Amino acid sequence: MNERPLGSVLVIIPTYNEAENIEPIVARVRSSVPEAHLLIADDNSPDGTGKLADELAAEDDHVHVLHRKGKEGLGAAYLAGFRWGIDNGYGVLVEMDADGSHQPEELPRLLTALKGADLVLGSRWVPGGRVVNWPKSREFLSRGGSTYSRLMLGVGIRDVTGGYRAFRKETLEGLGMDEVASAGYCFQVDLAWRAAQKGFHIVEVPITFVERERGDSKMSRNIVVEALWRVTTWGVGARVNRLRGRRHN
Ligand code: GDD
Ligand code: MN
Repeated sequence: MNERPLGSVLVIIPTYNEAENIEPIVARVRSSVPEAHLLIADDNSPDGTGKLADELAAEDDHVHVLHRKGKEGLGAAYLAGFRWGIDNGYGVLVEMDADGSHQPEELPRLLTALKGADLVLGSRWVPGGRVVNWPKSREFLSRGGSTYSRLMLGVGIRDVTGGYRAFRKETLEGLGMDEVASAGYCFQVDLAWRAAQKGFHIVEVPITFVERERGDSKMSRNIVVEALWRVTTWGVGARVNRLRGRRHN
């Protein structure tokens, strides 16, 4: 694919109780990609993450904060962040966790790949990608979730649940953001699948995912159940539609 210029970059970091992580992650993004702006999308964290974010924003004109009223899930926070970014004229919207799992030092590689793509996925499950400090149980869940989604949905993406991504604004606008209902991590599968169905050019770039050292994961049984349920529904729905189409033609 031809290289196309990238617009200005906004790194969106959703936060819920990341008080110990917010300052270091902002500093790492600022030094890794100095021209990029940051948007912290905080769901009114009880631990005061939002206030710390405001302090960082007051000192640095590249840092912005979106305060949301309460915990509504990672997906809802990202959707609000994407809209904010598009309304404010950014051309590239990046998803990144606050806990250091997605290393800002790898962001330049993702952005370089985006020059020739519509969507870049930081990938743990392509050659060169890996995970550091994950318990076997979590790796099993993630690999299993990715494989199940890939087979169910028939997409060729290796790491379909990953959360380190760079979108061109046009990709988000074209994939039907307003119809995305997924709240938890299956939001990631939802967006990737929509982009694949619309025929966007998706590139996976290997990353080293480093498990968090501070604070707690928000992964829960509900999040897994939502993902399993939705992916199964989408997959079965797509198969039924294909069969119907075949019968009518
Ligand atoms: N605003 C907001 N609201 N932020 C949230 C919420 C929420 O309800 N839930 C989680 N977050 C933020 C966390 O504060 C963190 O910055 C980021 O979203 C990821 O949350 P973690 O709890 O650290 O997720 P994880 O490490 O279990 O999962 C990661 O890997 C998954 C795939 O294995 C994430 O990158 C997922 O998106 C990804 O699907
Ligand atoms: Mn994490």
